[in-house]
Order: sequence, then C-alpha cells, then structure tokens
Amino acid sequence: MPGLIAKESIDEVAEKTDIVSLVSEYVPLEQRGSNWWGCCPFHNEKTPSFSVSQDKKFYHCFGCGVSGNVFDFVREMEKLSFVESVEFLAKKAGVQLSYSNGSAKSVDSSASKIKDEYKNLYTRVAGMFHYMLMETPAGKFALGYILKRGLSQEILEKFKIGYSPSDRKWLKQFLLKKNYSEDFLNNSGLFSKNYPDCAFFSDRLMFPIFDKDGDVVAMGGRFLRGDAQKSPKYLNSGDLIQYKKGSTLYAFNFAKSSIREKHKVIFCEGYMDCIAYHQCGITWAVAPLGTSLTDEQISLVKHFVEEIYLSFDSDGAGQKATKRAILMCRKQDVAVKVIRLSGGKDPAEIMLNFGAEYLTNEVNNAIFDSDYLLSKLQELYPKDTPMGKSKASLDFFEYIDSLQSDVQKDACLDQLCQTYGIEKEAARRDYFNRDKVSYRFRNASTEQKNPADSEKIKVTAELQAVMTAVTEDVSLFQKMCECVSVDDLSDSYSKQLFAVMQECQKNGSFSVSNILNRIDQENFRKLIIENVSKNTGRIQESAESCISYLKRNAYKRKKMSIMEKISSLSRSILPEDKALLVELTKQKMELDFQIENLKD
Ligand code: UTP
Ligand code: MN
Repeated sequence: MPGLIAKESIDEVAEKTDIVSLVSEYVPLEQRGSNWWGCCPFHNEKTPSFSVSQDKKFYHCFGCGVSGNVFDFVREMEKLSFVESVEFLAKKAGVQLSYSNGSAKSVDSSASKIKDEYKNLYTRVAGMFHYMLMETPAGKFALGYILKRGLSQEILEKFKIGYSPSDRKWLKQFLLKKNYSEDFLNNSGLFSKNYPDCAFFSDRLMFPIFDKDGDVVAMGGRFLRGDAQKSPKYLNSGDLIQYKKGSTLYAFNFAKSSIREKHKVIFCEGYMDCIAYHQCGITWAVAPLGTSLTDEQISLVKHFVEEIYLSFDSDGAGQKATKRAILMCRKQDVAVKVIRLSGGKDPAEIMLNFGAEYLTNEVNNAIFDSDYLLSKLQELYPKDTPMGKSKASLDFFEYIDSLQSDVQKDACLDQLCQTYGIEKEAARRDYFNRDKVSYRFRNASTEQKNPADSEKIKVTAELQAVMTAVTEDVSLFQKMCECVSVDDLSDSYSKQLFAVMQECQKNGSFSVSNILNRIDQENFRKLIIENVSKNTGRIQESAESCISYLKRNAYKRKKMSIMEKISSLSRSILPEDKALLVELTKQKMELDFQIENLKD
C-alpha cells in the first residue's frame, strides 16, 4: 500500500497556495470588498456570483452553492482525486511532500488509530469466515450454494466470500481468546446490541465490504436457509466508526483502476451482480450498499468518469431506481447510459444462464438515458392523445430540469417533441410554465421522494455555537476550551468539529482551511463553509453568546451530576458523607449563581 500523505504536508501545501492566484488561472477575478468575485466555473452564468476569500482560503458560489478549499477546486477543475490534488498543488507550490507508511503512525490521530484497529478486526473476521466457507464441513452447504450460482473459486478468493457459523456464541469466544477487549468487541457492530455475546451474522453467506484501499470495513450477509419469512434476505452492517454506508461503494477497491482507465463506471444493484460483472471481466462495476444510491457515492466516482452506466434489476423497483439515479447523476452533471437487461432479471442471473459474452454484449448495447426514459414513457402514455402527450412531457420535464447545460436541455426537448409529435414552441412554453401545468396531473409526475435525498444535518443550537469558532483566529476557540470540553457536548457533529479544532490548535495549524481538510463528510464541510461565509461581521458578538450557551449547558450537566450524588448521599448517616453532602450542596449553589449570571 502506498504511504499516506502526512497531514503536516497537506497543511503546508494549503498554506503556501494562494487561492486567488490559483482560481485566476481558470476564471478572471475582480476584488470587491474583502472578497474576490468572478463567474462561477461550475455552472453557467453571466453575472459573477462566485466569491473567493483570500484569507479564509476558500470559494463559495452563491448561484449554484458549490464551495470548497484549494484542493476541492483543483479536484473539480482537473478531475483529480484528493491525493492527486495535493500532489498537483504541492508541485506548484514547491512543497516536498512527506508520506507516512502504513506502519508509521506518528501523524495519525487517535481517531484513525481506532479506525485501523476495527479494520484489522474486520479483516481478521472476514478471513475466518472465508476459511470456514472454503475449508470446513460447516461451510459446505453455503459453498455448494454459491458454486451453484456460478461463482469461480478464484472470484470467491478475490472477494473473500465467507460463511458465518450458525452458533452465535462462537465468534465472541474466539475473539476474546485473541485478547480483544470486551468493550472494543461490543462496539464493533459484529454483535447484537441487546445480547452482546451473540454474533450479529449467523448461518449466512458473508460478503466483506472493503474500503477504497482494500481493507475490510463492514459486512453483508445473505440468508441461506431456515424461515425466509422471519429473516431479511440480506443483513448489512450499519454505519460504524470505520464505515459510512452512504459514502462507500462495494467493490470500488477492485474497480477503481479500470474505472480511471476507461473513464466509466457501472452502478449495479447488489453484491452478486457486482461480483458477476467482475467475474465476466467487466471490472469497472460497483454497487451502492443497502438500497438506494446517494449523492456522495456519485461524487466518489464522478471525477474519474465521463459516463455512468446504470445496471439495475429489470423489475419495477429496479426501473424506479434507474430513473432516480439518472436524475441524481445529471444533477451532478455526469452523463448516463442505461444497460437494459434483456437476458434476465439481474446481471448475476444473466451470467449464470448465458455467460460472460452475453453480459458483455448487454453492456455494449447500453443506451443514452434520454432514449431510455422516452421509451419507458411510451409504455405509460399514448402518443396519439392530447392527455398522453401532456403527461409524457410533464414527466420528461423532470429529466430536462436535471440537465446542467442549456444545449442539452434544448436537444432533449427536441427528442421529446419528435417522439411524441409535439410542436417545439408549445413544448417550450409548457416547460417554462411547468409548475402551473403540473398541478393537474400530480400523480403523473410526483415520484416518491427518497428520505436519503433530503437527509440534512440537523443544526442544533450547540452545533451552531461550535461552528462560530471556525475562524482564522484561534482565540475564540481558546475561550471556548476554557469552559467546554468534547465530553460536555452532546451532538455528534459538534463533538467531531470540536475535536478537529482541538487537533489543529495542538499542531499550531488552526485555520479555516486546515479545519475543513480534516472533515471528511461532504455536506458537513459545506455546512461549515456556509457558516463561515455568513459569519463575517459580528463574529465577536455572536461568539460570546454562543460561548455562554455552551457554558450554561456544561454547568447544567455538572449540576445534574452533583444533584445525583446529593440524592444518593442524602440517605446516608455516616459523618464523612454528611460533610461531603454539605460540600456538594455548596457547589450546587455556586453553579446556580454562575448559571444565572450568564447572559443570554
Ligand atoms: P437483491 O434482492 O436483488 O439481491 O437486492 P442480489 O444481490 O441480487 O442477491 P441474489 O442474487 O438474490 O442472491 C439487491 C441488493 O439490495 C440489498 C443488498 O445490497 C443486495 O445485494 N438488499 C437486498 C439488502 O440490503 N437487504 C435485503 O433484504 C435485500
Ligand atoms: Mn438481484
């Protein structure tokens, strides 16, 4: 495994890169007030709404909402991965990057150490399950099953397919003997929450889930036998310290080199489909995990590809997922093709029944998303009735909406008109009036919204308060630290941000850009950036009220714990407890005064 770029190096590159000169290489900028302004390179516009802040080292477009730091900027403009973007800018800035090897942990924070420990655990368990499948009598049934589904020994090795034993008590016993602590194991996601001695997966065919570097970070297990009514077909790991389901793609570790080489990627539905593609030599296939595709998963690959191929099941649910995925990809300005599976319900079945060549052919015959949608529309709405034309166009407008280029919008409107025999001008007018026209046909165009689409970070008062400390100046955060620590916070996002700021402060590299570099989650970064942009001006004022809010919360928590102690001591008759009681009561009163003294 190549080494990781040391965090210090990343900070140095960020430090030495002037964001204004960098952006100016791509877009002309003009200074207005403290910021620089230009036309956004990420969407079409004539009046500048793209702002660049030189001292905060980030950009934000008030038109389309994109934002980021120097690395994000070159990732987008040059279609690079994060590591490449650091290397690209290091070259420009003349920074010699230092790399840490997998073993050199000196630059690793404790959070990534824990992640590594869990990755090791999962890799070990996956190895055990794999051994059980391949070599033991207990795995015989499962092995027979998977061989019958046409997977080769070689592919079983590569994807480390395994079998989890039916005895739920076995895994805990086995791992405790290997000196893992009980606590560590209980938080691993491998055991039931209510019965921590019982393994979560039992008597299932196991699919290890790898991160992009090939470490096992989670698992999915397919049901094999027993009562199918009672058990879901697949059990999957939920989010874990080392695993975020929505930002991981199954098999990306195996696929990434061919994705980059071919500039395309296949999204298919399940573990089995993805493995079938790989076994057929189509190694640029990946699968979203669980059920529906997320924006983050698209972002993972969009820098490398010109086209995303969708290969969802040919049943109704798969077709619904296809339309949803088309709109999501198009909104991120990625072109889409659809693989129509004529030979069976899914790629795994096609491979089994017809073989690799047939499946390859299906991929080669993929059609443009607009053609796919129009052919689906014709199954739903007749071409020769006014109502049919109207419903079809309203449905198709949703797709036109998702396109990011006016030329493409216009070309697709043309396609609609030709297919349905509609006059272009009429279609154009309806398109611009679509909100007024559509209320009549609500059920024609209202797709069920997926809850994951609108999943937003809940900005609690606490998170809002912590976010005010994200500035170029560390002093505010220092003030915060005087009265609050990570343990005083309750919201997981504010805890994360607080810990990151603490790390930056410790390294002496406290700055907006360095803080952002340590936040992985795209929408959280965006939220922070939006806040920083809003926060110019009355920082001092708002920060003080935030600090007193956090203080009050911390005091309240302290008070609660004192009151608990008081109530547990109040029944005691021991003289030393009486003395302690007096002391605690005094402390409680003091806290009450302090809480009252805090301004709102
Ligand atoms: P499928 O039901 O199509 O499964 O669900 P599959 O992968 O084709 O498996 P086989 O071919 O029936 O053995 C597609 C994907 O949806 C998720 C899994 O990721 C699965 O691979 N899924 C499905 C679940 O997470 N839970 C379920 O209960 C079912
Ligand atoms: Mn399937």
